Amino acid sequence: MGAGIAQVAATAGHSTILLDTNHTVLKKAEESLKATFVKLVEKGKFTTEQVSEIINRIKFSSALMDFGKCDLIIEAIVEDLAVKQSVFAEIESIVSDDCIIASNTSSLSITSIAAACKHPQRIIGIHFFNPAPLMPLVEVIPSITTDELLAEKIKSFLSGWKKTIVIAKDTPGFIVNRLARSYYGESIRIYEEGWEGIPSGTKGFATIDWALKEIGGFKMGPFELMDLIGNDINYKVTETVWTQFFYDARYKPSLTQKRLFEAKRFGKKSGAGYYDYAETAIKPEAMMDKVLAEKIFMRVISMLINESVDALYLKVASRDDLDSAVKNGVNYPKGLLQWCDDIGAEKVLSTLVNRHQTYLEERYRPSVLLRKMVAEKKKFYS
Ligand SMILES: NC(=O)c1ccc[n+]([C@@H]2O[C@H](COP(=O)([O-])OP(=O)(O)OC[C@H]3O[C@@H](n4cnc5c(N)ncnc54)[C@H](O)[C@@H]3O)[C@@H](O)[C@H]2O)c1
Repeated sequence: MGAGIAQVAATAGHSTILLDTNHTVLKKAEESLKATFVKLVEKGKFTTEQVSEIINRIKFSSALMDFGKCDLIIEAIVEDLAVKQSVFAEIESIVSDDCIIASNTSSLSITSIAAACKHPQRIIGIHFFNPAPLMPLVEVIPSITTDELLAEKIKSFLSGWKKTIVIAKDTPGFIVNRLARSYYGESIRIYEEGWEGIPSGTKGFATIDWALKEIGGFKMGPFELMDLIGNDINYKVTETVWTQFFYDARYKPSLTQKRLFEAKRFGKKSGAGYYDYAETAIKPEAMMDKVLAEKIFMRVISMLINESVDALYLKVASRDDLDSAVKNGVNYPKGLLQWCDDIGAEKVLSTLVNRHQTYLEERYRPSVLLRKMVAEKKKFYS
């Protein structure tokens, strides 16, 4: 992630230092950045002169002392709180009091990182999506100890980096990693139940993937997407979000995914996940039943919408930022609150109530705001 973020910063015109304590990784990052820029010239995105200016703006370093004159530092090291806290304390001893220190963490609370700092008011989350140069979304996350003006300041600063910026409360998963959980979780649950006659094995995965692409217009089905992200990463994110929400049933991980993780069936990168990626593998055929697909879609989209409505209710982010985050961070065809308006809050609520009554599980409890919107016949966009 660090190399990608450095590429974005240098391209935006900033003199940038890419630091890694591991020399081999640093050398590889330098080679791969140079190769990327060669490709960008070939594609006509930049001229050779522009690229050499950008590369000259990047200094590759292994010495933290080089950060002495920096105005902004974005940390993207190993996802370990103790390691991050110790590196942040070390950085603070080198930089000026005005330097902003940000973390790209996906799952740790910004407040917990800032707790180890002398000046927690200058600590903030700046969360890029992978690959940073291609994904437009950046979540900016002030902690409860961050200077109140800093998030807006970072937002206007980063808009010059050609990114779409959203501001999120320091809560587990921030926006995208929280909202997107049910795309995977509910799809796996539908599969595990063999709901409405969905077959087991790859035909079942293919059926659910097809339904969500065909009816919902999602670019990738949940099982294809989990295999692309990696079932190791996806499982860990789910587990972390669930734990940090004090084991709220809404975010509960599934045994199906845990077993894939244990079997090292990480997905595309390991050659197998939900699907088999061997050259000889036979592509499973989905059950292309539109009535079934509509039911699958309604069950999954209702859970996604409920999550977004609840995030709005709990002031995790604004309406526009919640919708922008899923469109720009996970390529959803629509924002979830807009989708709620389009489908009708009443239909979403009745789907959830139906599941809640059927399963008697907390997981399906509708957000209080969704019930209020239905009772008052209101829309999110009017
Ligand atoms: N990979 C993703 O898709 C993704 C997306 C968003 C956010 N993030 C977050 O970004 C951070 C980095 O993730 P990654 O996937 O790039 O990890 P990674 O393991 O690929 O890279 C981390 C790098 O940090 C270096 N490092 C470790 N300790 C260091 C130290 N003390 N000083 C300097 N360098 C050190 C390592 O040598 C390694 O090259 C994590 O906090 C992760 O949660 C990752």
